[in-house]
Amino acid sequence: MKLVFIFLYLIFSLHVELNEAECHKNIVDVKNNLTLSRSILKVHCQSRDDDLGEHFLRFQDVAYTFSFHDSFVVLTRFKCILWKGANLEYHKTFVAYEADAFPECGVLYSWEARDDGIYLSKNGGLMKLMYLWDID
Ligand SMILES: *[C@@H]1O[C@H](CO)[C@@H](O)[C@H](O)[C@H]1NC(C)=O
Repeated sequence: MKLVFIFLYLIFSLHVELNEAECHKNIVDVKNNLTLSRSILKVHCQSRDDDLGEHFLRFQDVAYTFSFHDSFVVLTRFKCILWKGANLEYHKTFVAYEADAFPECGVLYSWEARDDGIYLSKNGGLMKLMYLWDID
């Protein structure tokens, strides 16, 4: 019985080590490309475990970025809220990242706030309009 546990432990540690070595973190970034309005972009992202706090980006500031490993236990999911406008009266809440059934490695989701809506490029692909702004 004891041997079985030792064996399982070894398999588990090996798996974790391989994972650390080969599985690059997933990256989500958010950019302010509010070309016309030149509005400040407010960003607030969080997962079940991590509240990443509020961040403010000016037009064409370096993208706000966070990175993480997918969890093996629960589905990794980050929700973000973006705000724009003179009084931050435009906003949108959306799922910025959600893992597949199996943990993924090295995925890049680039979100871009534009005047007409919120765009996404996955892994360097084409920018696609995903969401329109809600207004108070
Ligand atoms: C910013 O948005 C405009 C459209 O509003 C687009 O043509 C341009 O490629 C974007 N620039 C960057 C740096 O993403």
